[in-house]
Amino acid sequence: MDKKLETLKLKKDQALLGGGQARIDSQHKKGKLTARERLHFLLDEGSFEEIGMLVSHRSTDFGMEKENYPGDGVVTGYGFINGRLVYVFSQDFTVFGGSLSETHAEKICKIMDLAMKNGAPVIGLNDSGGARIQEGVVSLGGYADIFYRNTMASGVVPQISAIMGPCAGGAVYSPAITDFILMVEHTSYMFVTGPNVVKTVTHEVVTSEELGGANTHATKSGVTHFACTNEIEAIQHVKKLLSYMPQNCEETAPALPYDASDEQRPALNTILPQNISQPYDMRDILQEVIDEGTFLEVHRDFAENIVVGFARLAGRSIGIVANQPAFLAGVLDINSSTKGARFIRFCDSFNIPLLVFEDVPGFLPGTDQEWKGIITNGAKLLYAFCEATVPRITVITRKAYGGAYDVMNSKHIGADMNYAWPSAEIAVMGAKGAAEIIFKREIITAPDPEAKWKEMEQLYSDTFANPYRAAERGFIDEVIEPAETRKKLIKAFKMLENKVVNLPRKKHGNMPL
Ligand code: COA
Repeated sequence: MDKKLETLKLKKDQALLGGGQARIDSQHKKGKLTARERLHFLLDEGSFEEIGMLVSHRSTDFGMEKENYPGDGVVTGYGFINGRLVYVFSQDFTVFGGSLSETHAEKICKIMDLAMKNGAPVIGLNDSGGARIQEGVVSLGGYADIFYRNTMASGVVPQISAIMGPCAGGAVYSPAITDFILMVEHTSYMFVTGPNVVKTVTHEVVTSEELGGANTHATKSGVTHFACTNEIEAIQHVKKLLSYMPQNCEETAPALPYDASDEQRPALNTILPQNISQPYDMRDILQEVIDEGTFLEVHRDFAENIVVGFARLAGRSIGIVANQPAFLAGVLDINSSTKGARFIRFCDSFNIPLLVFEDVPGFLPGTDQEWKGIITNGAKLLYAFCEATVPRITVITRKAYGGAYDVMNSKHIGADMNYAWPSAEIAVMGAKGAAEIIFKREIITAPDPEAKWKEMEQLYSDTFANPYRAAERGFIDEVIEPAETRKKLIKAFKMLENKVVNLPRKKHGNMPL
């Protein structure tokens, strides 16, 4: 037995060393952790159970039979994060650059299948040179097996991808299908084709970082939801993100204990600027309403005219979607619509109630937006709200103009409770523009057109620039004093706790993609 135990130990030790000490040193020199070190920081101490430690590749081309590393470039298994089960894979760049072979893919598929059967999140730590070049189409088949499972798991269990190194070519499409992507600044990048191919095809000269680094994807493309300054920060973010989610679509997110106290927030009564056109940071309002220090903003630096993220209200996890008057006056455009829609669909998939703060002047005009398809893209936000069956509450702080009023979780598209502050203006458009159109003749023919315009603007404003017309119709359930907002929301979400809505039977809808 001793001999057999020795053999086992030898094999395990070999697997633990991945591609060998020299390559581990090289990984560290690049400022990167190894696959196993990452798992050590991610999972509760001692909770990791590895699956497939001794799996090795079956390739015999190009002398590959002589080069074999147990584990084959990916560490897979399960463990716990804050006591909750998760399935993990962590690609090992020290073994063939973390490239994906047939067996490497099989290991990932195995833990995804287990995650689906047992209803727990999948976390992928990606660090890979892409398809194992020596294996050809077998490796491509492996990717497709993973993509298929990513899609089947979408909306069933949360899937999170942390990009800790290269992620290029076909490899990008697995993270793209998962729910959240995190990238590490300067040591990770994602692109479909790298700088060399780009130069050949389009003659553009661009670095990897510019083309597909964390900041590029956090600000320009929106591919990543989080750009983290280092790997540890990325790992901490994964843990925090998970804390707002349930294990699967049949469950609700864990609530934290909460002691009710004075829920009045007097500061909210004076938080809006006097001047209707003056911007303010919607986050300041959110901070007054939610449980202190619980906001986890998603896509912070992308499409900043809408703010989305997770928070807690009276200990319970909620998803927030809020117009941001401090950026482009909070107007809705293509990027903010897709950003909002994607977040809403995640929350709805996983039973996370939605809270909407609204101050929106409308959709962004212009050829750029029209030609890029603001119609189709704006419709995504509308569709996502219409379809969401989780508890949904809206608070209108100031402007709710035009079609954007309908889109931003209005009563008409299924919101459960709609509140407005007395400062709300629920109208087809702002009073100035409205007066110019409907009183055009009176203004032109008046002895003092400017004075007439002002007079008509005031008339329109007195008639429509308030929340009361909407309240009379029941489109607004209650006009509330801002200071009461938190109290009202806690009560309303409690009231909606057992909400059940069944969508019409169908195969699936045809969202305007
Ligand atoms: N298949 C097989 N082996 C690969 C690989 C792949 N796709 N990508 C990298 N490797 C191996 C390298 O041969 C090298 O092996 P070694 O340790 O025995 O020398 C090791 O992984 C590290 O690669 P290296 O190129 O030295 O690392 P780097 O940090 O300088 O560059 C990449 C990383 C990913 C930019 C570079 O390896 C690369 O361009 N790889 C190919 C990417 C690709 O075209 N993939 C296929 C399409 S999806």
